[in-house]
Amino acid sequence: MNIGIDKIGFFTPHLYLDMKDLAEARNVDPNKYLIGIGQSKMAVIPPTQDVVSMAANAADKILTEEDKEQIDMILFATESGVDNSKSGAVYIQRLLGFKKQVRVVELKQACYAATAAIHFAHGHIAMNPDSKVLVIGADNARYGLGTKGEVTQGGGAVAMLISRNPRILSVQDDGTYWADDVMDFWRPLTHDEALVDGKYSTNVYLDFFKHVFEEYQAKTGFDISKFDAMCFHLPYTKEGFKALKIAIENADAEVATKLTREFENVRRYSNQIGNLYTGSLYLGFLSLLENATDLKPGMRIGMYSYGSGAQGEFYSGLLRPGFDKYIEHQAFQKTLDARKRLTVDEYEKIYNSRIKDEKTRKLDISSDPAKFVFAGVEDYQRQYVVR
Ligand code: CAA
Repeated sequence: MNIGIDKIGFFTPHLYLDMKDLAEARNVDPNKYLIGIGQSKMAVIPPTQDVVSMAANAADKILTEEDKEQIDMILFATESGVDNSKSGAVYIQRLLGFKKQVRVVELKQACYAATAAIHFAHGHIAMNPDSKVLVIGADNARYGLGTKGEVTQGGGAVAMLISRNPRILSVQDDGTYWADDVMDFWRPLTHDEALVDGKYSTNVYLDFFKHVFEEYQAKTGFDISKFDAMCFHLPYTKEGFKALKIAIENADAEVATKLTREFENVRRYSNQIGNLYTGSLYLGFLSLLENATDLKPGMRIGMYSYGSGAQGEFYSGLLRPGFDKYIEHQAFQKTLDARKRLTVDEYEKIYNSRIKDEKTRKLDISSDPAKFVFAGVEDYQRQYVVR
């Protein structure tokens, strides 16, 4: 049975910081950020957006009433969840008006969890062919102000409808995975920002890629020439480029050139948004779909998912017949171009203004144009507004 991504939607807030401005403020050569890290802009998450509101905004764009009727499972992947007990998925169930006969759960393994969710959805649909599953990857990637990780922040949400006979990508049951308990990046329960052993984390990411890609080739007999594009988890776009270089090490020149060209399409949106944690790999896939001009049905797309701590997985998907009818060329670029550029002062103020431990606080939502917004807390209960 063909099972995979039937629809894919994305949301990131209306604010960004230009990396040249950040470089100037931090007294760093801008080329370090633009070329060395591979980021030109970074999404800034206002206090009026959190993983739930961003997820609702992403999912709302793609779902019809008929989809909602058929969805019987919502899998919410995040590593910046808003509650230690209640899942983000149950907020989505109410905010988007789903029926009550639905399974809701939140999944966590750093940036990997949305990939796990897709495979769990795959299994569920294999047993229940008429079901559809909503998979969401939503995160707010935060490091400390002035830290080395600061330039790799970002945030947003990717929503994917998983079904049989999908319109966009048929997910293959060919994954290879690798897990090991390492401390490359983590966030203690007491912390609002991630802690990271930066250089070590970049090496673990690449080591895991080598493991799973080698194993994938041995398992399937497919070498790099079988791929028409490679998508990667992109904590910052240079990291994906490093993994691509490993993948094409022994490729012939034509294959290497094609995959390098497509990688520019894969990283285009992430370069302007930053890390998305759980959604990052799938933002790269969306960016490829919207920016590449030579994709064809049947083409094989490689997917490298990585979640610190750590879990890696490589799998592939095949583009479906007619997939391009459902993709609008560069559609999301227009949204990115319409964002408001912040000064570094404004960004720092926003960074420090989010609700953390307060029992009750009402937020001013008037300057946030999104349909779903986080309006504050009342007696520790999160308040969402739908316009
Ligand atoms: N012009 C061009 N390039 C320059 C430059 C200049 N003027 N100055 C420096 N560079 C280059 C460096 O040569 C280096 O390139 P290579 O990586 O190719 O060697 C690059 O810019 C980065 O410079 P540094 O090595 O000095 O890096 P740094 O100490 O500033 O730290 C970082 C970089 C480790 C990525 C840091 O930003 C960080 O800790 N980020 C958060 C952690 C992270 O993203 N890890 C990724 C793997 S973990 C993961 O994937 C999970 C997740 O989502 C977090």
